[in-house]
Amino acid sequence: MQTLEMAFMKHVVVTGVSRGLGRAMAMGFAADGWKVSGCGTDAAALKALADEVGPNHLVQTCDVTNSAAVAAFATAVTNRFGSPDLLLNNAATINPNKPLWDVSAEEFARVIDVNLKGVHLVIRAFLPGMIGRGKGVVVNFSSGWGRSTSPEVAPYCATKWGIEGLTAALAQELPAGLAAVALNPGIIDTRMLRSCFGEGAGSYPTPEEWAKVAVPFLASLSTRHNGAALTVPGM
Ligand SMILES: NC(=O)c1ccc[n+]([C@@H]2O[C@H](COP(=O)([O-])OP(=O)(O)OC[C@H]3O[C@@H](n4cnc5c(N)ncnc54)[C@H](OP(=O)(O)O)[C@@H]3O)[C@@H](O)[C@H]2O)c1
Repeated sequence: MQTLEMAFMKHVVVTGVSRGLGRAMAMGFAADGWKVSGCGTDAAALKALADEVGPNHLVQTCDVTNSAAVAAFATAVTNRFGSPDLLLNNAATINPNKPLWDVSAEEFARVIDVNLKGVHLVIRAFLPGMIGRGKGVVVNFSSGWGRSTSPEVAPYCATKWGIEGLTAALAQELPAGLAAVALNPGIIDTRMLRSCFGEGAGSYPTPEEWAKVAVPFLASLSTRHNGAALTVPGM
């Protein structure tokens, strides 16, 4: 049951809130007075986040590659808070560094499943409600490697270039009042960055430092950004 005050609060859905950028965004939006709905697969990390943000937010396990789990997450979220003002497709994974010909079929499939098919499942689950409501912004997390490339991360590059194309096409489909944006967050010291940069990741900002800039930037996005390929300012 929502209080009258809660009915006027903005609502953000974030995938991949168990750590990294997703967790920092969940904390940042909650601190800024938004209702936050978030998911991930690490139950212990999600419980720690739920305890930290408190009972006015919804944090739930949901594997974005599982269509039934995504549908159940979307039902739980919309029953509690309605459709989101902001949908952040943040959850992603990266292949261990290696040349493409050494990447196993399973490793390649996993990156595609999470980074592209997962984004599609989340869009399928949430966007019809947002369209019904006549407003909302979808942000699909891209990367510098969605606009350039490096060796040993070809599967990841393929998905992030895919996110750019998927988002630009989606933007052309959306009715008035809605927007879709591809976002390069910058370079931030997370588990994902440690995977590809090793110890060198330590010279980049923490997710919490990043979120101080990224959360107000994300909150400022509107229909005028529809179809844009953006980068978090200063990152
Ligand atoms: N860090 C950077 O410098 C950087 C640069 C460019 C782009 N990005 C992008 O920014 C986003 C966040 O990256 P990050 O650095 O914060 O990565 P991260 O630290 O590895 O965190 C990834 C998050 O995604 C979740 N996730 C992975 N697979 C999932 C699944 N199947 N279902 C649900 N959640 C899943 C993880 O949660 P569980 O483990 O609980 O599943 C985790 O919370 C990604 O889209 C990434 O590509 C990051």
